[in-house]
Amino acid sequence: MATRAWFPTTLYHEPLQKRGLDRFNADLAVECRQIRDYDDDGRRWSDKNYPGGYTSYATLNRLHEFSSTFAGLERKLTQHVRRFARELDMDLRGREIYMTDFWVNIMPERSAHSLHLHPLSFISGTYYVVTPPGCPGLKFEDPRLSKFMAAPPKLAKARPENQTHITYPAQAGWVLLFESWLRHEVAANPCADERISVSFNYNWR
Ligand code: NI
Repeated sequence: MATRAWFPTTLYHEPLQKRGLDRFNADLAVECRQIRDYDDDGRRWSDKNYPGGYTSYATLNRLHEFSSTFAGLERKLTQHVRRFARELDMDLRGREIYMTDFWVNIMPERSAHSLHLHPLSFISGTYYVVTPPGCPGLKFEDPRLSKFMAAPPKLAKARPENQTHITYPAQAGWVLLFESWLRHEVAANPCADERISVSFNYNWR
């Protein structure tokens, strides 16, 4: 072949663990809802900045330091982030990676999360807790979109890696990791049931 792809954008998608996910997620969902009920400031912040939904992003955003459930989940997620960083050939010899932020997202029917990225970290991700059938996945945008200049549009049947967006399904029990500069969004939830996820950022030193 005369052509070869370079500078890939890499996503990591794996189940959190092999067994016990149903029980773990059921307990975690209870805790996520308790956090929403307790977090008066966060619900007020979400009314303005996360319409129709709840996020603890601005208020209770270091949950791994306050909850043994979240601390346990942090330890498991760190293993996945290490594997992802290895896959990206990042040189972590003599360095450590650590979680900086850990927060809850609850999206009832019709709530959405517009296009954004995660500053001040190098790897970010989401773990899915409750994902009713038909709930929206996480849609990523080609980071070179602003550089395509005068390029013609892509074929509707373009190979997946040549399309300008990719949507990963939201699946309870699965970990989805991306480099923090990669913009992403969640479409409005069409389901009557709440979609619950927890999101996190990692830095290194
Ligand atoms: Ni995000």
